[in-house]
Amino acid sequence: MESSRRRFMQILGSSAVILAAAGTGFVLTREPVAAQAPWRNAGRYPDPMRRALSWAVLAPNPHNRQPWIVDLISETEAVLYCDLERRLPETDPFDRQITIGLGCFLEIFRLAAAEVGFVAEIEIFPEGESRPRLDQRPVARMALTPGGQADPLFAHIPFRRTNRSPYDTERDVPETALTAMQSATGSRLTTGYTSNGTRRDALRSLCQEASRIEQLTPATWQESLDVMRIGRRQIEANPDGIAISGAMMEALQMAGIMTTETMADPDHRAFAESLAMQEGWSQTAMAFFWIRTRSNTRAEQIDAGSAYLRAALSATRDGLAMQPMSQSLQEYPEMAALYRDVHQELAPEGGTIQMLARLGYARPVSEAPRWPLESRLRENG
Ligand SMILES: Cc1cc2nc3c(=O)[nH]c(=O)nc-3n(C[C@H](O)[C@H](O)[C@H](O)COP(=O)(O)O)c2cc1C
Repeated sequence: MESSRRRFMQILGSSAVILAAAGTGFVLTREPVAAQAPWRNAGRYPDPMRRALSWAVLAPNPHNRQPWIVDLISETEAVLYCDLERRLPETDPFDRQITIGLGCFLEIFRLAAAEVGFVAEIEIFPEGESRPRLDQRPVARMALTPGGQADPLFAHIPFRRTNRSPYDTERDVPETALTAMQSATGSRLTTGYTSNGTRRDALRSLCQEASRIEQLTPATWQESLDVMRIGRRQIEANPDGIAISGAMMEALQMAGIMTTETMADPDHRAFAESLAMQEGWSQTAMAFFWIRTRSNTRAEQIDAGSAYLRAALSATRDGLAMQPMSQSLQEYPEMAALYRDVHQELAPEGGTIQMLARLGYARPVSEAPRWPLESRLRENG
């Protein structure tokens, strides 16, 4: 973190902007507090359906697009749809990752229902699996019936984060934490991990190269930039996407140095800084964890989301930081060679790698923004 701060200071050229900002009291509180309200409001709903859904909106999901829309039918029945406008067609042309995010949503829903004495009955794609892309048909029908057994993983939902800090290279990830993540995912798919040696080195290089390709491919890089929110005002206006908060970044943004336009320009220093930051992510990966399914059906993608969510909660319980490194798994032409490489490395026996994430120890980060639950509900069934 210190070294990236130093780099930003170098870009700035002088500390005048920061000093001016500090002089106005601007640096005192730049957390997007309103955009984090759904984290504080989770569970505070009297009826069981809204209550479980208020937890589910905290699910990890690609670029934090929050692609869920729920038709409320009653206090115990609802239908989940994908908000088709919230997909990421350049990096996720077949909606595979968006579907994984919806699987994360359904798993939190299940855990939250069980916590208050309900079984969540979930019927996936009740009108059929949509291919090659998702369509307007429902993703799941959800019903709550009395029963259910509380799961200790539930307690970690408020503390789970995607942590994009550099990880501590002096601290190894214990094998016990990695095997606990594996046990948390159940037996419907296979998982793997590596926490040392040449395999970890190979994955670090592969992830670094994949993020380089994503950034050097204008369409895929622009897709990320289009959903980037820098600073409190932008995040609170649109509490989704890739949120970059903190007084330093906000000051750089206001000074016109670190903006989505400068980051898009390969000749600008901000472009190089973005590449360097992503390199830091790969190179400080102290362990990698991956999830593989036998084939690549929609049901398997939903299962992969459920498994990722459970593995992430297990990692949270054990004090680990975690971040998906999805670039090499993405299905666009420029990534085809690395997609092949990552599958040769992690799935030589076949199947699809659905998730690949790095782990380590890092300073905590704050909650990613969320749209309020109410904005994701349609109440007329
Ligand atoms: C299928 C999937 C792929 C993801 N890929 C990445 C990734 O490549 N890099 C990254 O930093 N985060 C990735 N994420 C994490 C999301 O960006 C994150 O969940 C979202 O921004 C919300 O933040 P939170 O997890 O802290 O609540 C991915 C999440 C999912 C479900």
